[in-house]
Amino acid sequence: MSAEWLFFSSEILNLGSACWLGAFTRWYIINYRTSPTTPLLSTTSLLSVLTAGYITMLDTGAGFYLATSTFVLAALSRCRKYWDNRSHPPLPPGPSSLPIVGSIFSLDDPFRPWLSFNAWKSTYGNIIYTRLLNKPVVVINSEEVAKDLFDLRSSIYSDRLKSVVYEPFGADFGMPFLAYGDRWRVQRRIFHQAFRQAAIHSYHPALLRSAHKMLFSLLQDPTNYASHFQMFPSSFILSTVYDYEPKTKDDHLVHVMQRFLELLIAGLGIGGTMVMETFPFLLRLPTWFPGATFKRAAVECLQASHDVREIPFQDVKERMSTSRVGPCLVADHLNRMNGVEDDVSTTAVNEAACTAFGGASETTVSTLLVFLLAMVLHPEIQAKAQADIDRVVGKDRLPDFDDRVGLPYLDAILRETLRWHPVFPMGIPHSTTTSDIYNGYFIPEGVAVIANTWAMTHNEKKYPSPDEFMPERFIHEDGSLMSDTMPSAFGWGRRVCAGQHLADAALWIAITSFLATSSVHKALDEHGKEIPVIPKFSTGLTIHPEKFPCRIVPRFQHASAERLAQLTGLEQ
Ligand code: HEM
Repeated sequence: MSAEWLFFSSEILNLGSACWLGAFTRWYIINYRTSPTTPLLSTTSLLSVLTAGYITMLDTGAGFYLATSTFVLAALSRCRKYWDNRSHPPLPPGPSSLPIVGSIFSLDDPFRPWLSFNAWKSTYGNIIYTRLLNKPVVVINSEEVAKDLFDLRSSIYSDRLKSVVYEPFGADFGMPFLAYGDRWRVQRRIFHQAFRQAAIHSYHPALLRSAHKMLFSLLQDPTNYASHFQMFPSSFILSTVYDYEPKTKDDHLVHVMQRFLELLIAGLGIGGTMVMETFPFLLRLPTWFPGATFKRAAVECLQASHDVREIPFQDVKERMSTSRVGPCLVADHLNRMNGVEDDVSTTAVNEAACTAFGGASETTVSTLLVFLLAMVLHPEIQAKAQADIDRVVGKDRLPDFDDRVGLPYLDAILRETLRWHPVFPMGIPHSTTTSDIYNGYFIPEGVAVIANTWAMTHNEKKYPSPDEFMPERFIHEDGSLMSDTMPSAFGWGRRVCAGQHLADAALWIAITSFLATSSVHKALDEHGKEIPVIPKFSTGLTIHPEKFPCRIVPRFQHASAERLAQLTGLEQ
């Protein structure tokens, strides 16, 4: 090996050591957790270390001393920051972190972190600080802490995490992704006007029609129950937002809306998002580049995002110019502008309208699937609910919203469904706009703050035997409903679910109509024996039961499409 080559290799090693030293300093600071959201080795310090290494490589004489002093200066500056930061109170307790991966190996199941966060409660308590990969995270395990922070300090805890992926995928307009600022505020106001509790009764007819259409589909094709459940929110959202009634599953607007959601969910899965956030250049590659799958997915999703905003919105505007459009979010807001449409408000109405579809679809379907799973596993609960419906509603008509007060057990089933397997087990993470001090702990600015809904809905003190499905836990001895409406399933503070009242009404009418007209049982094998149902759940930000075998059979008298048409008043 030549002398030059030896020299070159040793200097590369020097540079490498300098970098490793830098990396070690980062790790050291992470573990002492002084200032977790600021870069752990500032750009200046990192540059100094790299320069030091580089100069060392060029000249082992004077350069060596220059390099050493630069490094010492960088180290001293870092130490000063470290001591400065000691003036902060400590971060909340949590498991130790490793460089790069954070506490990921402390999670029993990295795809279901809410379970480990809940288990960590006994060691670290109700507020935990951890790092998942390079993301600092504060986890809240109790309703009390969630109320203190999200409700009482909402001006600090109402932001969302920024991500480089939203814009390329055309998702940056959606309210759940928006930063806590004016764009979010305008959309939220539009949503509030349309879907506040007092406004929901005006959507009862649309919700009832959508639920009844679902009954027809279940009667005609019971095995495809998941697809009928999916059509239910598509139908009521298109009605309440665009006054548009999809006739079939192949309806072109349903297709446009669902396509965008599917592309978005496929593109922004947890794994993919992490890769794109770690290597953002992947989103800048040309689409023809070999392996540029993320970029191609983003381009396709961006086009779908354009369609989802343009097609249904232009459809309402055209109908408004030629005929009367019934009450719905878009027409009501455009009418309120009295023909003086400004771009900002019109865009906000358009974006809020699309957000409603996204917000309602996955959540409603998943909750209905959890309900169906609970019913197939608990025939006695199903029978009790049906007996109540038969007693209050009778057999000659179908339930409607006026029956709700007389059917507390149905409400208890709905609440227990939201509690047993909340579809957002960790809500949607909030973020802080400034740093804060809570109960003596330092909460950094810009940190992800996760409300661990799972821990709250599985709190044994409040809900004994939390893994059991027991609607009775929401009923007083005298049969009346308790005051706990399971609000934690809908999130917290200023970012609480903007469609929760609509969701509540929609889910109630869907499950009550289902139980009035149908029963679900375990499927039978070829020998007529029941096939056991073993619940399995998907993973991700939202979860739902994976498809399970079951038999849905009609239970109304003279069950037929004709009879259903008589009962619902709908044409077949
Ligand atoms: C079972 C039904 C539903 C559940 C369990 C649910 C749950 C949630 C949760 C947990 C959040 C996050 C709250 C937070 O950040 O603290 C959320 C946000 C949101 N939901 Fe829902 N949701 C449901 C249905 C709906 C429906 C029907 C709509 C629309 C009509 C909707 C629209 C939204 C919107 C727009 C946001 C974002 C709010 C914001 O960031 O300010 N949701 N939802």
